[in-house]
Parts: sequence; structure tokens; C-alpha cells
Amino acid sequence: MKMEENVLLKNFGTLRVGGPARFFCTVENLADLKEAVGFAKEKKLPLLTIGGGSNMYFSDDGFPGLIIRNQMLGMEFGDEDEKGNAVVSVGAGENWDGFVAETVRRNLGGIENLSWIPGTVGASPVQNIGAYGTEVKETIHEVEALDTRTLVVKKFSNEACNFSYRNSFFKTEEGKHFVVTRVLFRLQKNAPINTNYKDVRAYFEAEKNDHPTLADVRQAVITIRKNKLPDPAVLGTLGSFFKNPILSESAFAQLQKTYAEMPFYTVEQGYKVPAAWLIDHVCGMRGYRKGDVGTYPKQPLAIVNYGEGSAADVRNFSEEVRACVKDKTAVELEYEVRFF
Ligand code: EPU
Repeated sequence: MKMEENVLLKNFGTLRVGGPARFFCTVENLADLKEAVGFAKEKKLPLLTIGGGSNMYFSDDGFPGLIIRNQMLGMEFGDEDEKGNAVVSVGAGENWDGFVAETVRRNLGGIENLSWIPGTVGASPVQNIGAYGTEVKETIHEVEALDTRTLVVKKFSNEACNFSYRNSFFKTEEGKHFVVTRVLFRLQKNAPINTNYKDVRAYFEAEKNDHPTLADVRQAVITIRKNKLPDPAVLGTLGSFFKNPILSESAFAQLQKTYAEMPFYTVEQGYKVPAAWLIDHVCGMRGYRKGDVGTYPKQPLAIVNYGEGSAADVRNFSEEVRACVKDKTAVELEYEVRFF
């Protein structure tokens, strides 16, 4: 395992911003990971593990400790039981969409609606990735993670992960001591297809396809995402920059008086409102741009770096968007991305 120094983080995050990491290494197996953690401990350095860097904002100052890039690979497909359920064990460093493609190829259902999400398998439970009516928590069976204090791998059941909207145990103070090493998914042959999300339904209506297969759903989601969201291979982006706010009954009722046409979904904790709609229709900030940083014209919840925007430029820009939404609606948008 090679330990490098002063490695520019802008090359390891899809927003393409960020100063140097004091130390940087790539781990391919558990022994590497333990060695890297030991190195950080010995030198009393802060430690941060990254996957694809597709949801991480790195500051212009960089990171004063050790960045570990997790590239632990491997996919093991277990046998199917009589109901067609199979447990698949996947290394945290596997590319997420490569894994989804393989499950669809094997006709195993459960994560096809999560096609074309950038990043790695290991990051998927951390923020409970979700799209088009599915969240990864629905198929996660178990998460294996190294406790960086004891160097022991611990297994977390689905329940122990404490999943909620874009959140999990691994984002808590205690959870931050763990590095995800493997994720076990429970997938199913002939699983029910979920086409409830508006955009997916509209896609199949236009295609006149009443009985989409898993491969059709994957294709639909890829097409929808490519049409709406910036491609990290082309533009600096972290996807959605903010979470969709969940409002209390009274806050929602108040807002509806002014914005009767505001879309919403009822969820357990209240009313979920699309942040993209607030940014677009309340603030008129769809496609708004300052220098090299702007909201993406087709989906303003994504903030994009058109070239030379710095981390500070992105942060200031995002604060301006938040301030407008807060001013006009009293809603405080929470960040979906993670700041380091
Ligand atoms: N909208 C606008 N103007 C726009 C675009 C959208 O007003 O230009 C409004 C529309 O009312 C639309 C609504 O926003 O119906 C929702 O838009 P969309 O379906 O694109 O989804 P979203 O709520 O903005 C969430 C996730 C995405 C995920 C999509 C699809 C969050 C924070 N974001 O976005 O996840 O792909 O749903 O399920 O929950 C990500 O996390 O990085 C991400 C891209």
C-alpha cells in the first residue's frame, strides 16, 4: 500500500473542488485498511474514508489528516432460496452502478430504480441512497464495518443501521468511528416492479409498455437521470445539494396559503416538499449562475461547478440559495452533501 502526501482532493471528488490531503492512500483489502488506520492512529491524524467522492464537499484548505480511498472489491452472489431470494455480498469499493447492472443482468430485483447513481457500494448505506420510489434500506440485509478504535469488523443488521431519509447510524458521532467494508443485500428473482414515481410512470406510458422488465426499468431510470441531472463526468456536481424539507402540518398549511400550487408528498413525519420547486418557483433560481458556479438548469437542486469554481465559491453560492428560500418561506434547507 502506497502512502502519498499532499494529494489534491479536487481530483477525488465529483464537485472538483478541494485542497490537499496531508496523507492519502488507497486500500484494496482489510489488511490494507487496518494498516492505514494504524498509520493514522500512530501519527494521531484525523481519518476520513472516501468512495467515489460523489457526495462529499472538500474545502479549499484540504484535509489535515489521512484520506483513505476504499477500493475493496468483490461480489459474491449467494444461492437463491425456494422463493427466489438471494443474498449478495459486495465489497465497499465496488462501483455502485456496476453492481446494479450485474443484478439486473442476473434478473435479481430490488435496486434497479437506483440505477446510474454515482459512487460506491460502501457509501450506499451511509446516506441511504434513494431515487425513483426506492431507498437502499429496503434491500440491505447487513453492513460490515471496521471499528477504527479496536480494528475489529462488526456486523450491523438492517435495524442496527437505523436508516431514515438520506441518513443512517454511520452518519452519527458513534457511527463515524466505523469504515464500511462490505454490504450484504437481499435481492429477489421476479421481484415486483416499482413504476409509481411520476417520471418513471410517464416514461412507460410514452413507451406504451405495460409490463416493464427489470432491464426496462433500469433503462428508464438511466434515461430520466441523464435528461435531468448533470453528468459528473462532464460537470462538477454532487447531485442534490440539499435534502427535500419535511414540514410540520402548521408550517405546511402556512406556506400553502401563499403557494397553493406547491407539490408535496405526505410522509410519516409531515409533508415533504421538493426543494427544487422552492428554488425554482419561489426564488427563481433555476439556472442562476455566479461565475463558474450555478444551479443546474434542468434540476436546480443540483449545484454545478462549470470549471474553476472553488469550494468557497460553491459554499457561498449554496448559502445564497438557502438564504433566499429561508427569506421567502421560512424553510431552512438542510444540506444533503457532506462537508469536510
Ligand atoms: N422541480 C421543479 N423545477 C425543476 C425540477 C424539479 O420545480 O427544475 C420540482 C417538480 O415539482 C418535481 C419535483 O421538483 O416534480 C421533484 O423533482 P425530481 O423528481 O427531480 O426529484 P427531487 O425531489 O428534486 C429527489 C432526490 C434525487 C433523486 C430524485 C428522483 C433528494 C434530495 N433528491 O430529487 O436524488 O434522484 O428525487 O427520485 O431527495 C441525490 O440525492 O443526489 C439525488 C439526485
